[in-house]
Amino acid sequence: MMMTMLHWRQTAPGIWSATAGEPSDFTPLGVLEPAPKVEALEAMGGTEPPFAWSDVQITVNQSNMIISFPLEEEEEIYGTGLQFMRMNQRGRTRYLRVNSDPKQDTGETHAPVPFYVSGKGYGVLADTSAIVTIYCGSTVRYEDSKLETVKDRNTDKSWRATPVSSRVEIRLPAEGARLYVFGGPTTEDAVRRYNLFCGGGTLPPKWGLGFWHRVPTMYNAAQALDEAMEFRKRGFPCDVIGLEPGWHTKSYPVTYEWDPGRFPEPSVFVQAMREQGFRINLWEHPFISPEASIYQELKPLSGSHTVWGGLAPDYSLPEARELYMKQHAEQHVAIGVSGYKLDECDGSDLTNHSWMFPAHASFPSGHDGERMRQMYGLLLQKMTADVFRREDRRTYGLVRASGTGASELPYVLYSDLYDHRQFVRALCNASFCGLLWTPEVRRAATPEEWVRRMQTVCFSPLAMLNAWGDGTKPWSFPEVEPIIRHYIRLRMRLLPYLYTAFARYRHEGIPPFRAMPFAFTTAERFREAAGRLAEGEQVLNTTDGAYGKQKAKEWDDQYMVGEDLLVAPVFTGESAREVLLPPGGWYGLETGLRYEGGRIIRVEAQLDQIPVFVRDGAVIPTMRAASHVPGIGEPNELIWLHFGTAPGSGWLYDDDGETFAYEQGEYAWTTAQVTASPAGEPELNLTRTGASIETFDKVSWRLGLSKLPQES
Ligand code: GAL
Repeated sequence: MMMTMLHWRQTAPGIWSATAGEPSDFTPLGVLEPAPKVEALEAMGGTEPPFAWSDVQITVNQSNMIISFPLEEEEEIYGTGLQFMRMNQRGRTRYLRVNSDPKQDTGETHAPVPFYVSGKGYGVLADTSAIVTIYCGSTVRYEDSKLETVKDRNTDKSWRATPVSSRVEIRLPAEGARLYVFGGPTTEDAVRRYNLFCGGGTLPPKWGLGFWHRVPTMYNAAQALDEAMEFRKRGFPCDVIGLEPGWHTKSYPVTYEWDPGRFPEPSVFVQAMREQGFRINLWEHPFISPEASIYQELKPLSGSHTVWGGLAPDYSLPEARELYMKQHAEQHVAIGVSGYKLDECDGSDLTNHSWMFPAHASFPSGHDGERMRQMYGLLLQKMTADVFRREDRRTYGLVRASGTGASELPYVLYSDLYDHRQFVRALCNASFCGLLWTPEVRRAATPEEWVRRMQTVCFSPLAMLNAWGDGTKPWSFPEVEPIIRHYIRLRMRLLPYLYTAFARYRHEGIPPFRAMPFAFTTAERFREAAGRLAEGEQVLNTTDGAYGKQKAKEWDDQYMVGEDLLVAPVFTGESAREVLLPPGGWYGLETGLRYEGGRIIRVEAQLDQIPVFVRDGAVIPTMRAASHVPGIGEPNELIWLHFGTAPGSGWLYDDDGETFAYEQGEYAWTTAQVTASPAGEPELNLTRTGASIETFDKVSWRLGLSKLPQES
C-alpha cells in the first residue's frame, strides 16, 4: 500500500480541489460543465475547513484509491444522494450505485452523489462516473484503534456492532478522481457552496410550481383534454398534464414519435390544452425502438447491448446527442410541449429488475456499462434542458436517475417505491446534495391515506398526482374532495413565496425545501433542541445501533419550505405528532396557535390539517388560487401576509416566469418590511430593486395575522 500526498488549492472562496491520480474526463462535472456562480461565492466570503489538510490521507492499492478524512466523535454525516432509509449516514457504508429499486439500506439510490456534508460544517465531493463507496465512520484503521473501544459482548451491554470511527474513507477507482472540499462554517453554507459551484440551483418556470396531473397509459388526445377540463369544472387548479406510455407509436422501447391514432394532430392538441391553461409533459425512456426514425442513424452510436430490444445510445458522443436533440426539438418542443419525464434511466443489473444493459456492456466512446449507467440520468437531463435553452424557454420535468452537480438541472426525482415516510425523508435528504424530489401521489387504500399523501405533495418541489396506472383523480375519494381542493388551492396561493424560495436557490444556492439541520446555526444547537422534550430533559429514541451512542431522533419527517414555513406531515393512522421547532416564535399556519420554538412540541392534526408553522414576523407573498398560473398581462393580485406581533421582512422575486431573460438582469426583488408605527400598529413598507417587470396588476396586504386568512 502506497501513501501519497494531495495538493489542495483554493478554486473559489471556501472551495478547495485536488486531483487524486489521473481521472477520466467522463465525470458528472466534466459532462455538465457548470459555470460556478462566482459573485455569489465571493459574497459568501472565505472560510477554513475545520480540519488540517495534513489529516486528509490518500492510499493507493492495486485496484483502488482510498481518500480519508478525519471524523470527530459527534460528527453527523448527511448527503450521499437521494437516500430513503436514514438522514444521518454516520456509521454506515454507502455503496453509491444507481438503482431503480433501492429497497435496502446499502446506499444504492436513484441518485447516488459522492458528496457528504458534515454536521461540523464542511462538505466533500468526489467527481467521478465510477461507483464510489463512502465509509461514513464505519471503519477503524489499526493505528486509530483505541483499547477502550474493544468491548466484551458477553458481559458488556454497551457493546455495539459499529465501532466509533475517527475517519471517513472514500473508495475511488484506481484511476482516482477530482476531489473538492466545500467550507462552511455551517452545514447550510457548505451545501450552498456546493450548489453555487455547480452553477446555482434551478429556477423553474412559474407554471412548474402549479399542480401536475398525469393521465393513464393509452389515453388519447380527447380523453386527456376531457380529464383536464374536469379540473376546471371542479375548481381544482392544474397547470401541467403529463402523458404516459401511449403517446409514442411504440413503447418499451420507444419511438419518440406521436401515435397518429391516439394523437392525430399533436400540435392542435398541445395548442388546445395551452388555451385552457395546461402545459404538456411527455413521458419517455432512453431505449429506442427499431421503428423509430432515428434508429438507423443511432445504431452505430449505441452500446453493445439492447434493452427491451431497443438501442441504448452512447450520449457521451456529440453526434448521438445531436440526433436525439434535433428530433425532440422538432417534434415536441417546437409545437409547444413543455418538458419531459425521463423514466427508466436508473437501472442496475443486480436488482429484481433485470432490464438494464449490463455493467460490462461496451459503448463506442470506450466507456463501459457501469459508468454509462451512473451517468445516464445526468446525460438525458442535460440534453433535454439544452433543447429548451436553445429556444429561450425554461422547462421543468421529472427524472428517475440523477447524480453529482444536478442542482442547476430543471428536474425533480421520483420513484416507483411508495412508502410515505421514506418519501418525506427523501425530500429532506435531497436538500443536502443539490437534488429535488417529489413525493408523488398515485393511489391510496383509504380516504385518510389519500389526504395525508396529498397534503405532503402540495408542500413539495413538484405537486403531482401520477395516475398512469391507477386512473385516480384528485376527487377519487368524494368524502375528502373539499380537503384535497383546499390543499391544491393553498399551494397555488403560496406560489409567489415558493417561486421566491427557488430564486434564492438559483442565486444564493439555498435549497427551497430543506432538512432540519439547515434551520439551526450549529450542529450543537440542533442536537440540543432535537434531543430534549419541551417539558422535561428526557432524551428521545434512546439508542441507535449505528454508532452506539445515545442519540436523538433525526427529525427527518419534517422540513423547512423557504425561510419562514415549517412543514410537519402527518401519516396514516396518526392525528397528532411531535414537531421540532427552531428557535423563535411560531404560529400554526391554519390554527393560529402560538408556540415558542427551540424545543419539541406536540400538536394535534385532524384529517383536514397538516401541521405547517409560520415564523412570528414572517412577511409572505401570496396570490389568489387561480385555475393555473396567470401569464404576464393577465390579472393577478399580490397579497402580502404578515404574521404575528414581531416586526419582520419578507421578499418577493419576480421575472417573466418563462424565459432566461433573468440571466440578463430582467428580474426584480421587492422587500416588504413590517415595523411598528408610533401607535404600536404594524406598518408595511415596500421597496423594489431591479428591472421594471410587472406580473401583478394589484398589490394588497394584511398585517398582524395569527393564521392564514380564508380564501376571499
Ligand atoms: C414507470 C414509472 C411510472 C410510469 C410507468 C409507465 O417506470 O416509474 O411513473 O411512468 O413507468 O410505464
